[in-house]
Amino acid sequence: MTAQELRTMYLNFFRERGHREIPSASLLPENDPTVLFTTAGMHPLVPYLLGEKHPLGRRLTDVQKCVRTCDIDEVGDDVHLIFFEMMGNWSLGDYSKEESVSMSFEFLTQCLHIPPERLAVTVFAGDAGMPRDQETERLWKSHGLTNEQIFPYGREENWWGPVGHTGPCGPDTEIFYDCGKPKCSESCGPACHCGKYVEIWNNVFLQFNQEEDGRFTELKQKNVDTGMGLERVLTILNGKTNVYETELFWPLMERLEALSESRGKHIPQRDRRIIAEHVRAVTFILGDPKRIAPSNTEQGYILRRLIRRVIRLFQKAGIESDCLCSLSDIIIGQYRDVYPELGENRDFILEELRKEHALFSRTLEEGLRKANRYLDSLGAGSPGEDSLRAGSPGENSLMAGSPGEDSLAADPAGGRIGTMLSGELAFKLYDTYGFPIEFTAELARERGFSVDEEGFRQKFEEHQEKSRKASAGKFAGGLAEHSAETARLHTATHLLGAALRKVLGEEVAQRGSNITAQRLRFDFSYARKVTKEELARVEAIVNQAISRKIDVVLEEISPQEAWRTGAVGVFSEKYGDLVKVYAIPGYSREICGGPHAGNTGELGRFRILKEEASSAGVRRIKAVLEPDGG
Ligand code: ALA
Repeated sequence: MTAQELRTMYLNFFRERGHREIPSASLLPENDPTVLFTTAGMHPLVPYLLGEKHPLGRRLTDVQKCVRTCDIDEVGDDVHLIFFEMMGNWSLGDYSKEESVSMSFEFLTQCLHIPPERLAVTVFAGDAGMPRDQETERLWKSHGLTNEQIFPYGREENWWGPVGHTGPCGPDTEIFYDCGKPKCSESCGPACHCGKYVEIWNNVFLQFNQEEDGRFTELKQKNVDTGMGLERVLTILNGKTNVYETELFWPLMERLEALSESRGKHIPQRDRRIIAEHVRAVTFILGDPKRIAPSNTEQGYILRRLIRRVIRLFQKAGIESDCLCSLSDIIIGQYRDVYPELGENRDFILEELRKEHALFSRTLEEGLRKANRYLDSLGAGSPGEDSLRAGSPGENSLMAGSPGEDSLAADPAGGRIGTMLSGELAFKLYDTYGFPIEFTAELARERGFSVDEEGFRQKFEEHQEKSRKASAGKFAGGLAEHSAETARLHTATHLLGAALRKVLGEEVAQRGSNITAQRLRFDFSYARKVTKEELARVEAIVNQAISRKIDVVLEEISPQEAWRTGAVGVFSEKYGDLVKVYAIPGYSREICGGPHAGNTGELGRFRILKEEASSAGVRRIKAVLEPDGG
């Protein structure tokens, strides 16, 4: 079965059962500051799950493109992907568990012809305050599933959502394909990672809303939200063992094979898979109608990390990564009929890849040489085949003897820190050579070292603090002054950034900010002059937030949590401890040191004085807060 046959079969099945098809939404969520990407088909439907009337009715179906970065470390195995297509069907307060389970069972066994004995399902086992989902258990049994095929699990496994920190959620029943391998242990089940069970579909009974304060409130309507992973189902139906053997990946895999053969180089299998996965993911992110470009913040930073990882993997294999565009073009050609935006944005996709490649390859070689030297100086034996060195061994030759004065790896007592690369060096690689921290960590890991990511974070923050103080010092009454005026303008700056992204698109990234007691100045990436109408809309959004008198909330959360909940800012999802996030619910979430106004109502009236070019591709806005009614 081809991918297109599967998409069509799914949509037809649900259309025949009263569902209306909706188009795939953008990968960038609308009006939702809590997440970076659309991670599930339900995401664009949140208002309707909460009770808004959907114009197409109460039964919907679609194939939604999704991006989930949480699985990045798993990419390269048989089934985990960052970009994937999710087929889904929804009941917005219409049918409930019985019909949902029946339709899923029928589709799997009658349309896809999966033998019922190859299915395994999980159900919510209940916990404090929430009962066990006996109804769903009974429903699966009514379709002939045996006790051995039904696995009750707790909240960890069988409670889905919300996507950000608030929103619809509820118990679910997950459907797995049993590959037929023997159980790896007594307790082996769908929650086990041995590869016996592959999750293919998830039916969520969205009955609750998680509120800001963590409480669950009952939704007005009981919904069903399902999601089926297209790539995984295609793999199974075609008797393949991993997604890279399907038609969706084989053209890329073949090209990679040919590339390495023609250049007499070897790319290890896992790296080949990561390259293929990331090339597809970045093609879809760049090709999204909202046109995200690589940057140092938010979605742009994720994109940058993925592209740079691919470039580095090529470099590691000794292959020139200028093939990036031709690989991406394979994906565009393959998907443009189903996702026309890829064809429409082809020039943009290829141009951005070319630019990022040029930008990064300039510093990559030298950065790698430095990294190598640092790692050498840690002195843990000889690098294996996965050496950081690329190309001919002579070129990036590991420095024999003294690590040179650049080495900061030695501890103050003159000994070695051991197997850990210092945070200071990791920061230097980030700051000077554009190495994302995960990237440095990966390099280090390949040579059996770890990285002091906590130390990196400290350096990173010190650096931010320094630049903040520097710019505050340069301009009278900068933020260092901590006056009420600057705090208010600082809050206005967050609102401005969010409003610009809403009006101009998510590619708008902060390039600089400077605040005096009198005005704010905000630099951001954007390719052209912002029109008067757009500026008026931006102003209106900021003033709307002000008129709503919203409390500015300070959260001290882990960077992972900040990242998961869509906070804006340059940060790594991996470095430890806590970061400060200032949230203006409904408008903005930003990693930031503060200080801020306590409530947007204190701001007065926001007015843009001027919009002008600052440098190539960077615009500058100057704005003030005026007394209300002034
Ligand atoms: N929203 C559900 C999921 O992503 C279907 O698994």
